[in-house]
Amino acid sequence: MKITLSVIKADIGSIGGHIAPSQPLLAAVRAHIEANAQGRLIDHRISFTGDDVAILMTHRRGVGDESVHKLAWDAFVAGTEVAKRQGLYGAGQDLLKDAFSGNVKGMGPAVAEMEIDERPNEPFLFFAADKTDPGAFNLPLYLTFADPMTTPGLILSPKMAKGFRFVIMDVNETSGDRVIELVAPEQLYDIAALLRDAERYVVESVWSRATGEQSVAVATSRLHNIAGKYTGKDDPVMLVRTQMNFPATGEVLAPYATAHYVAGGMRGSHNMPLMPVGLNTGTSYFDGPPLVSCAAYAMHEGRLTDPLDAFAHPFWDAVRTRAADKAMEMRRQGFFGAAMLAMSELEYTGIMEKLAELGPRFRIRGEAAERKAA
Ligand code: F6R
Ligand code: MG
Ligand code: MG
Repeated sequence: MKITLSVIKADIGSIGGHIAPSQPLLAAVRAHIEANAQGRLIDHRISFTGDDVAILMTHRRGVGDESVHKLAWDAFVAGTEVAKRQGLYGAGQDLLKDAFSGNVKGMGPAVAEMEIDERPNEPFLFFAADKTDPGAFNLPLYLTFADPMTTPGLILSPKMAKGFRFVIMDVNETSGDRVIELVAPEQLYDIAALLRDAERYVVESVWSRATGEQSVAVATSRLHNIAGKYTGKDDPVMLVRTQMNFPATGEVLAPYATAHYVAGGMRGSHNMPLMPVGLNTGTSYFDGPPLVSCAAYAMHEGRLTDPLDAFAHPFWDAVRTRAADKAMEMRRQGFFGAAMLAMSELEYTGIMEKLAELGPRFRIRGEAAERKAA
């Protein structure tokens, strides 16, 4: 049976700064979906990670369906009204356009979708990250789908031996979707050369080469490409189907034990470790640290089980402690060196303005200046 999994998420306001949405806001989003789901959705789940609200939906309408996207958009508009009434910070922050026009892509909310032939057992994972951007998933996806040191299934399972196909997007291109397809293991170095530049080249999807089935869909929007200015970090969502012809759930989760440094944290402008957290966790230290949650689901004919919280297990307590240590270690060097992002990635314009002001005040000294005067 063909089923579409759609997750659409947006930051539409939060309590106490950019921490977490309020319960009334979540209730308004949920109420809107419940009142209008009939005839459009099979099932849905509402959750939050940091200040972002995610609507996970199952249906039979395919990817990019206007009525499904409009349902999510209108739910966020309903949530925004509550956010405004409650005086939440950044009410409607990610709704960058005034009116819905066909598809939420390019309007602010992040979208990850895939249409699948539902397997008799359909385990999948829904990841949501806050205070970072889609490149945060580059390293974990590379390790899971291309590195047998992480994923023994690549050498142990005949079904995975043919490797995986990566679709990678250049998210700096604003004229359209600039994408490349590369296959692992043959083109491993090409994949690595692109994915190391995680602010520019982002994994959009991953496919089994043995069966042609899609395993991964990542939201790849860049808000500043839409708005032309800082409107918040891109806080990505991702869907990953697991087991059988795909990596096992544990092989997908394992790379998050690294708590690797990603772009994000305070003012979207720092390198900070990605901390795996429980479902419905807000942010805290230094507007971060960047966080990632993972809801594990089973599905039958589009009906979802309750989510299991993949990072609630005691194992991840040790990782969280390491992530906190790594975060504090990096913060000791403030704005110097690797702590703050490169100029092109700073999400605020203060430094550019300052440099423009200081530029004319520089003087060339010594012989060169005398030559110039003469
Ligand atoms: C990061 C983020 C926050 C804000 C910061 C300042 O993605 O959203 O770190 O950048 O709290 O927010 P404003 O400029 O809204 O006061
Ligand atoms: Mg925010
Ligand atoms: Mg956010």
